[in-house]
Amino acid sequence: MVAFTTFFSLALLAPLLASGLVLKRSGCNISNMQIPNLPQALTAPTAKGSFVGIAIGTQNYTCTSTGTYTNVGALAELFDISCLINTPLFGILPDIAIAAWEAAPPAVSAPEMISTLHLFSGPVILGQHYYVTNPITGSGINPKWDFTSQGADAGNPNAFVVASKINSTTALTGSKDIDWVFLKSLTGSLAQEVYRTDTRLGQPPATVLHAWPGSPEIVVKYAAKYWGFGGSV
Ligand SMILES: *[C@@H]1O[C@H](CO)[C@@H](O)[C@H](O)[C@H]1NC(C)=O
Ligand SMILES: *[C@@H]1O[C@H](CO)[C@@H](O)[C@H](O)[C@H]1NC(C)=O
Ligand SMILES: *[C@@H]1O[C@H](CO)[C@@H](O)[C@H](O)[C@H]1NC(C)=O
Repeated sequence: MVAFTTFFSLALLAPLLASGLVLKRSGCNISNMQIPNLPQALTAPTAKGSFVGIAIGTQNYTCTSTGTYTNVGALAELFDISCLINTPLFGILPDIAIAAWEAAPPAVSAPEMISTLHLFSGPVILGQHYYVTNPITGSGINPKWDFTSQGADAGNPNAFVVASKINSTTALTGSKDIDWVFLKSLTGSLAQEVYRTDTRLGQPPATVLHAWPGSPEIVVKYAAKYWGFGGSV
């Protein structure tokens, strides 16, 4: 954990601090931000930027009755990268993040990683990404970005968005990385439009081994950038 922490802080945190990141949701003004290399398959944003973060976490899968893995949620922590948008670091952040995350021992969870980082600086955390029951239909699960408990929006009960997928497309880096996705808000004020881009890993194994319908979920580490537009918090 110590070696990992050192690596992570050198690799990711030091440049974040060097960039002058401050301790609020968007350390830098991202109202005019645009997503580089947005594939045509994803509808372009129509509103002003409200957050941009790099996420480190896991995609969860279960075994289906046909012997394949199906996605059943995710859990990730988001760091503010608003101040890095116009720096050379911005493009390689996902590679740095996934390398550090892959190097972390299995016992180190994303939330633990974040709390470890507090030793080095104040929080650069935006919040958490996970899945909840669809708030409209009451069935199925939808992704949520929840900034209500950390960062600048801590304590604001509206600082979240639960969204529904509109378009997705194979990652520009290839299908070894999970799809890039465009989603629209169902509930919450954090953003009206959400994007997942610059994904790294997160795909399940091609074949199901040592698992069966009803066996425990498997979790696969991934990194991605998440972008929010049109927030009103
Ligand atoms: C952020 O930038 C936009 C566009 O340049 C500007 O209109 C807005 O006033 C800025 N917001 C803040 C809080 O500085
Ligand atoms: C994205 O999905 C929406 C809703 O299904 C669809 O109307 C739109 O054409 C899609 N965009 C692209 C670029 O395929
Ligand atoms: C996904 O996996 C994480 C880590 O095991 C777990 O905390 C979380 O509850 C899981 N979420 C879902 C929707 O299965």
